[in-house]
Amino acid sequence: MKAIEIEGGRRLRGELTVHSAKNSVLPILAATILSGDTCVIQRCPRLEDVDVSGEILRHLGCRVQWQDEDLVVDSRGLSCWHIPDNLMRRMRSSVIFLGAILARCGAARLSYPGGCELGPRPIDLHLAALRRLGVRVDESCGVLTCRGQELRGAEIVLSLPSVGATENAMLAACGARGTTVITNAAREPEIVDLQRFLRKMGAEVRGAGTSTITVEGGRKLHGCRHRCIGDRIVASTYLCAAAAAGGDICLRGVDYRHLSTVITALQQAGCRVSSQDRRIRLVSDGNLRGICPVRTSPYPGFPTDAQAVLMAALLRSEGTTMFVENVFQSRYRHVSELVRMGADIRLEGRVAVVCGVPKLSGAAVRCTDLRGGAALVIAGLQARGTTRVEEIHHIKRGYSDLTGDLARLGADIREIEI
Ligand code: UD1
Repeated sequence: MKAIEIEGGRRLRGELTVHSAKNSVLPILAATILSGDTCVIQRCPRLEDVDVSGEILRHLGCRVQWQDEDLVVDSRGLSCWHIPDNLMRRMRSSVIFLGAILARCGAARLSYPGGCELGPRPIDLHLAALRRLGVRVDESCGVLTCRGQELRGAEIVLSLPSVGATENAMLAACGARGTTVITNAAREPEIVDLQRFLRKMGAEVRGAGTSTITVEGGRKLHGCRHRCIGDRIVASTYLCAAAAAGGDICLRGVDYRHLSTVITALQQAGCRVSSQDRRIRLVSDGNLRGICPVRTSPYPGFPTDAQAVLMAALLRSEGTTMFVENVFQSRYRHVSELVRMGADIRLEGRVAVVCGVPKLSGAAVRCTDLRGGAALVIAGLQARGTTRVEEIHHIKRGYSDLTGDLARLGADIREIEI
């Protein structure tokens, strides 16, 4: 088993290119099915969740292969419309294959997607959207069988702007006859990226980035080449790391507008952050101050995925900061691990209050989820002594080389076998 070992106290300095966004790549890999042709995902990040998507695609009958940094998916031979439980459980975003398989095959069978690390993650909105398009959903023993030979465009009103439900509705609507209008759609940059990909395949989709997305379904689609947007959460992680450890770093490959709420928070905390020539530069002396309450909400609000890493950055700040987690019910599982390192964090339901402490101490801690794991690494970078972060498979789901990137920036960090 592998762990990450960190000797805290080094400043970070240097330049990095941020890899493509996991949350763009995963729905886009599902969307390749719609083309019935070959799609090339350029510079696809090597992530565990990308491997699982590849396994699902192969199970469905697609050819999936790496060509240097590109991932090539040929979905001409798709011959199966069900995903076995062992693959569904390995990744929550496996549910996005539902809309894509339905659009291509008119039927899909799968079980509920895995785990519940952030609290309950129902898929009721996904299913309600698909029902609007004429899909019949039967559930028995945890297996969903969805049939919709004749999908019809419809008005879909989402009761909340779920990212996954918006994506599933967009994909299924591409295979439906007529016009679909999705109201109260999620507005995340990754939804805009999915629209760009669908349009490159020949689909007629417009409105992504706003709350109303329109799909003219039933078009014949074809293969294409696509490079996904940079990962705003990976970028936020590196900025928070340098803010906490102190230093001067530059990030390339990500649009600063996609992380403006995170940048504003770091500026309030005392960092200098600027953006020029498509680079984001952060300078910090490592002495931060507490900031106004951080309330997570759907884009363009503060991203729930950056809550843990910002919290880790503020553990030694002067003063207090309140976090309010509004998107997921249980997204503070990293808190008890941070407390083992000497952090002072009080939890009450959706609220966490961080009181800055003068120092953190290295400890053996365990990743509880993907972003919570990255938060432990950030705590380790600023702690005195050695921190050992275990269960790092969570981190590998969403960071292609967190340890290597931070080492290149000057951190004393390595992966070890335990
Ligand atoms: C996506 C992201 C994840 C991010 C989240 C919120 C991907 C692969 N994952 O997850 O990194 O943290 O957006 O920005 O893109 N909900 C329901 N019923 C549903 C669907 C959702 O009640 O049918 C609730 C969820 O429980 C949650 C909230 O809606 O409380 C937001 O979830 P959603 O936007 O769907 O997140 P995901 O698509 O799962």
